[in-house]
This record gives sequence, structure tokens and C-alpha cells, in this order.
Amino acid sequence: MKSFQITEWCHELFLMQAVTGGTYIDATMGNGHDTLFLCELAGKEGQVLAFDIQKQALESTRALLKSEGMEQKARLILDSHENMAKYADEASVDGICFNFGYLPGSDHSLATKPESSKNAVIEGLRLLKKGGVMSLCIYSGGETGFEERDTLLAYLKSLDEKKYLVIVSAYYNRKNNPPIPVLIIKK
Ligand SMILES: C[S@@+](CC[C@H](N)C(=O)[O-])C[C@H]1O[C@@H](n2cnc3c(N)ncnc32)[C@H](O)[C@@H]1O
Repeated sequence: MKSFQITEWCHELFLMQAVTGGTYIDATMGNGHDTLFLCELAGKEGQVLAFDIQKQALESTRALLKSEGMEQKARLILDSHENMAKYADEASVDGICFNFGYLPGSDHSLATKPESSKNAVIEGLRLLKKGGVMSLCIYSGGETGFEERDTLLAYLKSLDEKKYLVIVSAYYNRKNNPPIPVLIIKK
């Protein structure tokens, strides 16, 4: 059986809609696993932009990409994902991954935050092409509490159904605030 961990599941959902060889954004680079996934999808033709506010994330992502021979494929950007529109044009991006929370083993106070996460999703949706896809791994509980989850889910609920398909999944029988996988497609 596959593990169906949230990150793996979000990749599966993403692949159901994503074109290959496109332009992708990893909005929360961390240790680079999503960046690597997007680099593989980008193939020879595509490109990847990846964002994090921690140098440590850029360093470990660079090392991971290097070990996979992908270091030229992604542009690693030390900036908040709220600023992604500085680096890509409106309606130019095929897919965006968000994996909220904190970098494992680092300062938890540098985790993603409710308002900036919501603003980054808004910016990301603006940058997506029609038919473009966005996946979100949303966490709650622990140190970050429920505010980020609630802020994001409330915003997603408000999106115009004529413009976006929003699918919120659930690990339905899991206890203790399981993570929430989300898929958004821009119509
Ligand atoms: C759960 S980790 C991401 C895991 C990562 N995608 C991977 O594959 O390893 C969340 C990351 O978001 C980063 N982060 C927090 N606030 C951010 C912001 N405003 N802009 C971009 N990244 C941010 C954290 O530094 C952390 O590395």
C-alpha cells in the first residue's frame, strides 16, 4: 500500500491536472522535496521557482537538487511567497505547491502565518493560467494552532465557483487534527 501521506497525496492530485514541461512554483521550499517533484515535472522544457524565507531551506534544497542532477532546473528565491508576483507574470504559471507549517528541525516561529499564507494563495491564483493547478497541504494544532487552517479554509470557501474548482479532502477517520489536502483548479 502507498503511504498516502499528505505530501504524496497532494502530488497525486496535482498530477491529475498538471501539464508537463510547464512553469511551476514551490511556494514553501523547505527541504526541497516539492521542488524536486516540480523539477521532474518540468523536464527539459519547463522551469521552477521556489520560495522560502530561511537560508537553511535554500541550502538543503540546493543539496537535494544537486544530488539528483537538477540544480540548474530551479531558481531558489530567498523571499516570502507573498512576493511571488515579483518573479512571475500574471496567468503565466501552470502549477503551484504549498506545504504550510515549519521546516522540520528548525525554529517553529518561522512557520507559515495565517495572513501571509492567505495573501500568497491570492497571489498564486492570480499567477495561474487557466487550467492551472494549485495544491495545498494544510496543518493545524500544535504550536501554530488553528488560525492558519481556518483563515485558509474560509478564504477558499469564498472563491467564485465559476472561476475555481476547489476540492478539500479529509483523512476522515484520523484523530488529532489530521492535515488537510486541497486541490484548486483555475477554470
Ligand atoms: C513544511 S515546510 C515545507 C516543506 C517542503 N515543501 C519540503 O518539501 O521539504 C514549510 C516551509 O515554509 C517556509 N515558510 C514560512 N513562511 C514562509 C513565507 N512567508 N514564504 C515562503 N516560505 C515560508 C518555512 O521556512 C518552511 O521551510
